[in-house]
Formats: sequence, structure tokens, C-alpha cells
Amino acid sequence: MSEPQRRVSLARSQAEIVVVAFGLLETVSVGITGSVAALGDTLFPAVSLRASLIQDFSSENILLRLRFLHSMAAATAAIYVLWIILKTPKSNGRVSNQVVMLAGLLISQICLGILNVLLLAPVGLQLVHLLVAELSWVLVVIASATLLLPAVESDSEPTLIADFTAPFGE
Ligand code: HEM
Repeated sequence: MSEPQRRVSLARSQAEIVVVAFGLLETVSVGITGSVAALGDTLFPAVSLRASLIQDFSSENILLRLRFLHSMAAATAAIYVLWIILKTPKSNGRVSNQVVMLAGLLISQICLGILNVLLLAPVGLQLVHLLVAELSWVLVVIASATLLLPAVESDSEPTLIADFTAPFGE
């Protein structure tokens, strides 16, 4: 009797696989630079927006000087998310709920980030920004995987993951 087969095929071109790999790395770098920004904001809280902008560009402290990298990384990651949204195939001419949620989270996250800067990162807003970041990360990973692996083809029989009834050695 033939073994049930499970084929997983990458349905995208090499260029698209490279874009997804860079996009995911970029998304990770948004998290890393965000944590640096959060640490800088916590250890050296700014007293005004003007003072915080001056800190960004002329502080002696490396944590504060690196803070602006977060908005750069967020802008690049946003381009990747827009690319995923455009690339994800529509079903019956409709975009999937997942893509709509991703677009919503991206827009909210950028607004929350700007608000964070303007309001000097109050703790409540930091937590909301962090929560939306986690949700976005989950959706970006799922959307990237969906784009690369549009279908797992399997034979008519259900996929056999492990047969615990078989004796050892068979
Ligand atoms: C793709 C969109 C974005 C993502 C995924 C993102 C993600 C994050 C993450 C993970 C943190 C660390 C939070 C923590 O550890 O407490 C953070 C912090 C921060 N982000 Fe963003 N961010 C985004 C956009 C922006 C934008 C556009 C700005 C402002 C221009 C911004 C401003 C900040 C600031 C000021 C902090 C430090 C205060 C805090 O912890 O909330 N972010 N971000």
C-alpha cells in the first residue's frame, strides 16, 4: 500500500522569497529598535517634545541617539506590509479579512507611534503600542507564510503524521 504523500511547494519566485526573508528581518529590526527606544524613554524621560527631539540628534547617550532608527525601521517595514497586502491573492475579487486586519493594525501602529512621540511615551500608550506590535508580528508572519505556501497539496488520504499503533522496527 502506498504511503500517503504530503507535498509542500513554495509557489513563488526566488525574488519574492528573498523579499519575504528581508521583510521578516526588517520586521524583527522594528522590534529591536523599538525596545531600544523604549529603554531610552524609560531611563531618560524627556520633559518636552522639543527636549526629546534635541535628545534624538545631539545627546551624548547612544540609547537616545539610536531612537530615531525605530521610525526609519518602521517606515521600511510598512513598505513590506504594503507589498504583502498587494501580493496576497484576492478570493472572488475580495481581499481577505487577514489582509484588512493587517492594514488596520499598520495604520493604527503608525498613529500610536507618532502619538507616543508627541505625548512623550506615557506608560499606558507604550503598552498599547507594544500590544499592537505583537498582533502585527503574528499577522505579518501568517500573511508571509500564506503568500509563500498558498496550498499544501495532499493526496486523497488524510496526512499520516505518526502511527503510534505500529510496533517498533516496522
Ligand atoms: C510598523 C510600525 C511599528 C511597530 C511594529 C512598532 C513597534 C514597537 C515596539 C515593539 C516597541 C517597543 C515597545 C516596548 O518594548 O515597550 C516600540 C516602541 C516605540 N515606538 Fe514603535 N513601532 C512602529 C511604529 C512607530 C512609529 C511610526 C513611531 C514614531 C514615529 C514609533 C515610536 C515609538 C516610540 C517612541 C517607542 C518607545 C516608547 C514605547 O515603548 O512605546 N513607533 N515600537
